[in-house]
This record gives sequence, C-alpha cells and structure tokens, in this order.
Amino acid sequence: MRIGVLTGGGDCPGLNAAIRAIVRKGVEVHGFDFVGIRDGWRGALDGSVLPLDVPAVRGILPRGGTILGSSRTNPLASEDGVSRVRRTLAEHEVDAVIAIGGEDTLGVAAVLADQGIQMVGVPKTIDNDVAGTDYTFGFDTAVNIATEAIDRLHTTAESHTRTLVVEVMGRHAGWIALHSGIAGGANVILIPEQPFDVGQVCGWVEDRFKIRYAPIVVVAEGAVPKAGQMVVKESALDEFGHVRLSGIGEWLAHEISDHTGKEARTTVLGHIQRGGTPSAFDRWLATRFGLRAVDTVKERAFSTMVALRGPDVVRVPLAEAAGDIKTVDPDLYTEFGVFFG
Ligand code: F6P
Repeated sequence: MRIGVLTGGGDCPGLNAAIRAIVRKGVEVHGFDFVGIRDGWRGALDGSVLPLDVPAVRGILPRGGTILGSSRTNPLASEDGVSRVRRTLAEHEVDAVIAIGGEDTLGVAAVLADQGIQMVGVPKTIDNDVAGTDYTFGFDTAVNIATEAIDRLHTTAESHTRTLVVEVMGRHAGWIALHSGIAGGANVILIPEQPFDVGQVCGWVEDRFKIRYAPIVVVAEGAVPKAGQMVVKESALDEFGHVRLSGIGEWLAHEISDHTGKEARTTVLGHIQRGGTPSAFDRWLATRFGLRAVDTVKERAFSTMVALRGPDVVRVPLAEAAGDIKTVDPDLYTEFGVFFG
C-alpha cells in the first residue's frame, strides 16, 4: 500500500514528530510505501511530491516546522480542484492519504473522503481549537513560549510601573491566552469568546497599580471589545475566508494609557509561538497520533481522525473536526475571574 502524507494550514511544533512516527511504523511494521505531498493541499493540486522513507525522517523528531512544507491552499476553492487531487494521487499510485492539519485542512479531507478518497486525519494546531480532540499538538509548545514571555514581561513592567499588553495567537479560540495567562499570572486575560468591556479592563489595570504592581494584560488576537468591531491591521482573506489578524494589542494599550494616564506598551508574540523545537509533550502527542494514524490505515478505518480523549488516543469521524471549532467554555473562563484586577 502507498500512502501520501501532507501537512496543511499554519505549521506548528510537532509536525515532524508525527511524520516520523507515521513513516517509521508504516514501513517497519506494516510494510507500506510513502510519498510526501508538498505544501499541504497545494502539492495535491499541482502534483508536487517528494520521496518519504525512513532515511528522510531520521533526525527530525526535535525539529520545528514541517519537512513537507505547508500552505493554506484550498483545493475546493477551484472548480477542477477535486479532479486535480485525484489525478495527483493516481499518477503517484497513492492508495490513501494521511492529512495532518487543523479544522480547514481536515474539513477538506472530510469532503474528499465523502467523494471516495481513502483518508485519515491527524489534528494539529497551536490554537487547540480542533473539535473532537481534547488537545492538539503544537499547543503545549505555544503556551510554554507565551508563558515564558509573560514571566519576562513582569519584571520590566514593574521596573517602569507601566502596563504591558501581550498579544497572543488565537483567532476564534482563546486557549493560548487562557492557559499562558493563568500560568504566567496575568492580571487580565481577554479571549475571542467573551467580548470585553474596555472600562472594566482599565478598572482592573488601576486596581493593580493601587497595590504597587504593574499590570500584565494577555489578549488573544481575535478578542473584541463589546459592541465593537474586530480590530485588524489587514482585511485580506485567505482561501478559507479568514482575515489576517493583528492590532488588538496595540489598540488596547492606547485605550489603557488614555484612560489611566499611565504608560502602556504592547508585545505581539506572533509566529514566535509557532516556531522552533516542540515541547516534550507535543513530541509525545504527535508521535502517538502518528502511530495511531498509520494503524488506522492498516485497519482500513478511513474517513476518521485520531483524537486524544482523556489518556487515550481514539478514532472519531473526520466530520467531527470539520464542523464547529472547540472554543473556551464560558464557565471555565469565569472560574479564573478571581485573578483579574
Ligand atoms: O494556525 C494557527 C494560527 O497560528 C492562528 O493562531 C493565527 O491566527 C494564524 O495561524 C496565522 O496564520 P498565518 O501564519 O497564515 O498568518
């Protein structure tokens, strides 16, 4: 059996660990052949592939990024997309595809699976917002990076008695903001799921100054003020219709200094959260997902995605990942209210 492997969407730490596990077990235990599909669905559309065997995956476990490349290309956006994908798979004698991605990549995988392509999904993203799985790999590394940044910002904020706003990734889900904000002892955490009141944020900031501490505000890039417009720098959309975000942190720092009369500055962590070596947990989770995905092909349980449920790696229908994203439960957010201000 010949399997095509692709990584789509924004890259994240742990992709190489997953690819390695798939290839090692696929070749050594199941006797499969592999072909790497370059740059996510773009390679499937354009017929761009690369050799993928055991020597090709040696030494990649601790490396960030993806040896296969990635893109946000959506093959369903063009009329002949599905037939071009089929042509690539036929030309390279690919019997099944393992698609490693977030909700967009897996959404495409679900549609192609419905059209008869033998497909297995592996969830990944730093945002941790793929439905159907407790955690995605990439998330733990991103949270650790953001937490370390917050730890560092505390000391410089205190030296200057100023507010520091930290903008983290998370377009529709505030998982990175919530986890890193709680781990880093932030005084305000703002997430896309809960529109915030600027006056209340400034009140929390002032409370902090009153007890001679400098406030740290963690804001997810997709957080929005109440009854307000989402603040964006660019309005260009990608092929899945997402706007490119960045700007809420800067906007908020201006509001805070206008309201409080004290200096506020912004740090945008951006792609630093996605780059570099994966944490031990992300390597472990990516490896478990990879092993289970290749077994899933062996057992011909197509149209499914591997997922973490409690301590177990299970299979769920691919369609689960393609539906809604997994957002922060309001009750969970409320639980941390005691730390605000
Ligand atoms: O894929 C997750 C993510 O990092 C989001 O948190 C972020 O909004 C987006 O990707 C940024 O995408 P790009 O790197 O394409 O600008």
